[in-house]
This record gives sequence, structure tokens and C-alpha cells, in this order.
Amino acid sequence: MKVLSLFGTRPEGIKMAPLVQALAGTPGIESIVCTTGQHRQMLDQVMNLFDIRAHHDLDVMLPGQQLNGLFARLMTRVDALLEEVRPDCVLVHGDTSTAAACSLAAFHRRIAIGHVEAGLRTGDLSQPFPEEMNRRVVDVMGKWLFAPTVTSRDNLLQENLQGTIYVTGNTVIDALELSVQKLDHRSDLQADLAARYPWLDASRRMVLVTGHRRENFGEGFMQICSALAQLAKRDDVQIVYPVHLNPQVRDVVMAKLSNLPNIHLIEPLDYLDFVWFMRRAYVILTDSGGVQEEAPHLGKPVLVMRDTTERPEALIAGTVTLVGTHSERIVRAVNQFLDDAEHYQHVAHSVNPYGDGHASARIIAALSGREFEEFDPQPIEQLISVS
Ligand code: UD1
Ligand code: UDP
Repeated sequence: MKVLSLFGTRPEGIKMAPLVQALAGTPGIESIVCTTGQHRQMLDQVMNLFDIRAHHDLDVMLPGQQLNGLFARLMTRVDALLEEVRPDCVLVHGDTSTAAACSLAAFHRRIAIGHVEAGLRTGDLSQPFPEEMNRRVVDVMGKWLFAPTVTSRDNLLQENLQGTIYVTGNTVIDALELSVQKLDHRSDLQADLAARYPWLDASRRMVLVTGHRRENFGEGFMQICSALAQLAKRDDVQIVYPVHLNPQVRDVVMAKLSNLPNIHLIEPLDYLDFVWFMRRAYVILTDSGGVQEEAPHLGKPVLVMRDTTERPEALIAGTVTLVGTHSERIVRAVNQFLDDAEHYQHVAHSVNPYGDGHASARIIAALSGREFEEFDPQPIEQLISVS
């Protein structure tokens, strides 16, 4: 079977990497990898880390490109690739423009689609925007729907879709486990990382921040910056913020937070470095999807700067709290973690509702038509008692 994996952004790269690595060693599968170029710098480091070479690169990104321009270029370029490669199936991931456009192009050519990370839903098309729409349309077209959790499976079941649903766990935990093992077994790496960030102060608790969601552009990011500026007045914290490359994020963050004491605005971190930072962090503030899955696995409390989430499992377990983007609420929630040790201890426990490190193996078994045991997370009640 000729399998074409298509991805283009940083999170897709991280979450597809373990699967692509495993596909390459699978008898009976010819694995072809294509990156769309939606993210250039932020994806290249992921490819290097996991030692993956793309056979094709669609190079779709133009400066200042809007969603429709990006979608149109993706469709045109992937169509030419499908004509050339003629795969038996394409694999796409999640909810990006890359995933939606590549699936639609494959669908028009009647090529079977496997959707990795199927079934995540907020139920609100405006958040995350446009991702909630993207993942829905991919699921409508998918033949293999790889749901990471039973919650995502149940979302899919409600939609009466044509594809077959498999509960696999999320491949992000495969990628995270590989990275943690690498960090733990290579003392030279630990020393390199410590030397690379000499300004890190172990005597201050680290608040690690990421943010990039379109629905937070404008007022949302102004509020987030205002919250960080207030928190930075505390001299017992160090705020570390690797700033996403999107100019809509970057321009505001740089204008509002540059040169403030206790705030380190840095370039997006390579994945291994970011995992190292997450493990050192005291609390994580984010609007990212992937970080909501990784941090609970690492036992780190997460405050999510959004009004909704498509990842309710860690919310129910208590490791994740939705705080929205109002500055006062963010400040209050972070201060509570910093000042109330009991509250912190209550939340900071490792829970694993998202995966067990074997999601890629399950996806390959499903593609190959082999029987396998689906991902069986801890029951929610158990998650709550753990936290
Ligand atoms: C995209 C995905 C989002 C995903 C996010 C991960 C869509 C619609 N959204 O959002 O689901 O969560 O990636 O980060 O697909 N840029 C660069 N270099 C990079 C990456 C981004 O210069 O390596 C800049 C470019 O100016 C680009 C802008 O960021 O125009 C926005 O990138 P884009 O991929 O359109 O959207 P994201 O907000 O990153
Ligand atoms: N990440 C990274 N470097 C950073 C920030 C995040 O490698 O500086 C990783 C993070 O661990 C997670 C992924 O990027 O796996 C999340 O990407 P992003 O927040 O851009 O997208 P989302 O998950 O919201 O789609």
C-alpha cells in the first residue's frame, strides 16, 4: 500500500513524526512524506529532531498570505502531487488549512483519507477559528478516523459519519515519550541545554507562555500582554515566552512586553528544548492544543487562555483550567498557583488521558487491517482521584 503523509505546521510535524518513523519500517507499506511548507522554520527543526526527510515540499507559504490564498495554493499544489504519486491513501493530521485542503484534494480524486486526531470538537465554529470547521470537513471525508480518546470517538459517533472509527490515543504522547527518553538518557544534552539558556534562574519559578490562536488576535492578545506585565512585577517568578512567528502575534507581544524585567521573549523553541522547558516550568499559560495534552502527562498545571476547549479530559481531571483572555482572571489564576501551595499540589500530578505512547502502532495496525486493542485511558473518576 502506498501511503502519502501530508503535513505542514509545527504541531502536525510533532504529532506525525512518530507515525512517519514507524510507517517507514512497516513491511507492505511504501511510505511517502510531503510537507506543504505552511510553517517553514517551525517545522524544519521537528524534521531534524526526528530525522525525517520529506520526499516532496509544496512550499505554499507566501508573506502576508491570508487563509483563502493559502487554501487555494495548497489545493493546486497537492493536486499535482497526487497526480504524480498516485497514493492508495493519504494521511492528514488535525485541523489545519493543510489538513482540510489536502483532504479535499484527495477526496476529489477518490483517494482514501486517514485522519489522525479525528473527532476533537468544541461545538463552536468560531473557536478555534478556523480549525473547528477544518477538522469537521476532514472527518466527513475520512475513511479511517483515528480518534485519540473515547470522548473524540463519541463526538464522531454523534455525527453519523461514513468512516470507521478507531480509538488510538494521541500520537503527541508518542512524540513526547521519545523526547523525554532522549533527554533522560543523554546527559550531554542536559548540559548543552543548560548552557544554551544561562539566564534561567532556578531560584525563581518559571511561568512558561505560548499563544497563537486567531480568535485571540487584537483585544485577546492585548489582555494577555497586560496580564503578563502585571505578573512580571513579582520578583519570585521568571516568565519565559517563546513567541510564535505569526506577525499578528509577534508585533503586539514585542511592542507590549519587550524590555520588561522578568519577561524573556525568545524565538520559538525547538521541540526538544521546549519539552525541557515544560519540565522545568512551574505553571504553563497557553492557548495551544498540543501543550494541553503534553503538560498533564508531565504533571504540570496548565491555564488555558481560551473560553472553550476540545480537550475536556484534562479539564475534568483538574490539571487544565480554562481562564479565557481577561487579564485580571489570568493574573488571579497564576497568583493562586504561586501563593497557594496546597492548591498547586492538588493539581500538579501526572495524568494520562491522551495516550500511552502506542498510538502510531495502533494506527498502522488499523491501516494494515490487523486486529489491535484500542487505547483504553484511565476512567475519568480515576483521573479525578489521582489529581
Ligand atoms: C496554524 C494552524 C493552527 C495551528 C498552528 C500551529 C491553520 C488555519 N492554522 O496557525 O491550526 O494550531 O498553525 O502553530 O492552519 N509563520 C512563519 N513561519 C513559520 C510559521 C508561521 O513565518 O514557521 C508566520 C507567517 O507569517 C504566516 C503566519 O505565521 O503567515 C501564520 O501562519 P499560519 O500557518 O497561517 O497560521 P498559524 O496561526 O500558525
Ligand atoms: N512547541 C515547540 N516550541 C515552542 C512552543 C511549542 O516545540 O516554542 C510545541 C509544543 O510542545 C506542542 C506544539 O509545539 O507540541 C504546539 O504547537 P502550537 O501551539 O503552535 O499549535 P497547536 O497545538 O495549538 O495546534
